[in-house]
Amino acid sequence: MPADYYRDWLRVAAEEALHFDLLRQHLRSLGRDYGDFDAHDGLWTTVERTSQDVLARMALVPRTLEARGLDATPPMQDRLCRAGDLRAVEILAIILRDEVGHVAIGNHWYRWLCQRDGLDPVQTYDRLAREHHAPRLRGPFNVEARLAAGFTPIEVDALTRAQLPERRCSQRRQLPTLSRNSAVVIPSPIPDL
Ligand SMILES: [Fe+2]
Repeated sequence: MPADYYRDWLRVAAEEALHFDLLRQHLRSLGRDYGDFDAHDGLWTTVERTSQDVLARMALVPRTLEARGLDATPPMQDRLCRAGDLRAVEILAIILRDEVGHVAIGNHWYRWLCQRDGLDPVQTYDRLAREHHAPRLRGPFNVEARLAAGFTPIEVDALTRAQLPERRCSQRRQLPTLSRNSAVVIPSPIPDL
């Protein structure tokens, strides 16, 4: 793969590490820590399952599982907002912003591979999802975030025909800007994601 492929995923790794630190700091501020709660390892299992096939890796990890995170985050923010944990809502806004970029990188390299190998992206995705037992995706889908992450309207349409989740928490709509050096988080209003 070209050098840019590795540069892109190193950037993603750095952002994932930042997400972990933000969540761990927050857990510690609440008197708990990483490892205190059960978590599934679906993403890592899929990473291992696709370790020999870069096309399947792009299809299944960023374009399926990380993209699922785009859908799951706003409802999670709503629940945390209702529970009064606004710091967690802010952290999830940072993660959502960065994950749009991760999925976009996955889409970029998935399409690059399809073009290189003369494959149809939609049919190929369906085949890979079947072969690798990808989880069946259920709505509601975060259509705006998926489009921002490089899914085509045709792909989103085929996926969804669903409605966006109802927005119940205005806090969720604030996307923080993050100073990576100081880790200072400054919420700022943004258009809908
Ligand atoms: Fe990610």
